[in-house]
Amino acid sequence: MKTIKLILAIMAAMVLAVSCGSKAKKQKILVLYYSQTNNTKLVAEEIANKVGADIEEIKVVNPYDGDFQATIERCLQEREQGVLPEIKPLKSKIAKYDVIFLGYPVWFGTVAPPVATFLKDVDLSGKTIVPFCTFGSGGLESSTKDIEKAQLNAKIIPGYGVRAARLEAMPAEVDQFLKENGFIPGEYIQLGEFTDLEEVTPKEEYIFIKATDNYPMLHAKAKLVGKRWIPNGTEYLFIAEDQPREFKDNMPPAGEMKIYVTVIGDTKPEFTRVVR
Ligand SMILES: Cc1cc2nc3c(=O)[nH]c(=O)nc-3n(C[C@H](O)[C@H](O)[C@H](O)COP(=O)(O)O)c2cc1C
Repeated sequence: MKTIKLILAIMAAMVLAVSCGSKAKKQKILVLYYSQTNNTKLVAEEIANKVGADIEEIKVVNPYDGDFQATIERCLQEREQGVLPEIKPLKSKIAKYDVIFLGYPVWFGTVAPPVATFLKDVDLSGKTIVPFCTFGSGGLESSTKDIEKAQLNAKIIPGYGVRAARLEAMPAEVDQFLKENGFIPGEYIQLGEFTDLEEVTPKEEYIFIKATDNYPMLHAKAKLVGKRWIPNGTEYLFIAEDQPREFKDNMPPAGEMKIYVTVIGDTKPEFTRVVR
């Protein structure tokens, strides 16, 4: 029964769609991004090159230095004080653009503070915002919600996010994303729905563990799983429960989360994002 469902899902997924990319011709597009350690910068450049858009980096007056711990501490301090970092004035005239691709690293589950400053200072009413981000484990969905709250009169479309550990997969994924959303012309593969959720089998549990075991921030147990076909492999959607941590038992478990895992050919399973 499970096999039949998977075959049906595969068939449903094998749709080759074509986008004509008309948006790219009509609309003025700006790629605007903040990046501390250049991951998001790579995505921003890939998007700008493919779309043929203008690009600008958001710069902080008093930059966060490259040290992870120092950045965490400064952010926590700024949060406690309720302040956001001052950013340098942009060279781009936002008013002349219809679409803003807005890029950022996910910090504490949301847009990095320099992007929060930008969103607070600007009015993007009537414009389309396309969020894109890089992260350790996830945060596209939660950060998109915060962008929606900050810009109530803008149209925000579902964006693109990639783990810092999977940047080599980014150019192909960006290409697919831009075609799917009509920003560039060309054929793309429309993936089907996931199969209904079922309890994980021992084999699926093994895949889950293999995909997540080298990521220290994840300590979850897979409960349910759905699957769908992707080119050369399978994508799994695991519903997992955060487990109490041995060393930080004062930290409450984060509860239920969705963890997406891909298995392509004979390569090691890898998780692509966590949605909390
Ligand atoms: C202060 C700070 C907070 C972070 N918070 C998160 C987080 O909540 N979730 C996550 O998945 N990654 C988190 N990360 C990892 C970054 O999102 C990731 O390394 C990102 O790719 C960095 O992008 P950049 O090179 O463009 O600066 C955090 C990193 C820093 C420095």
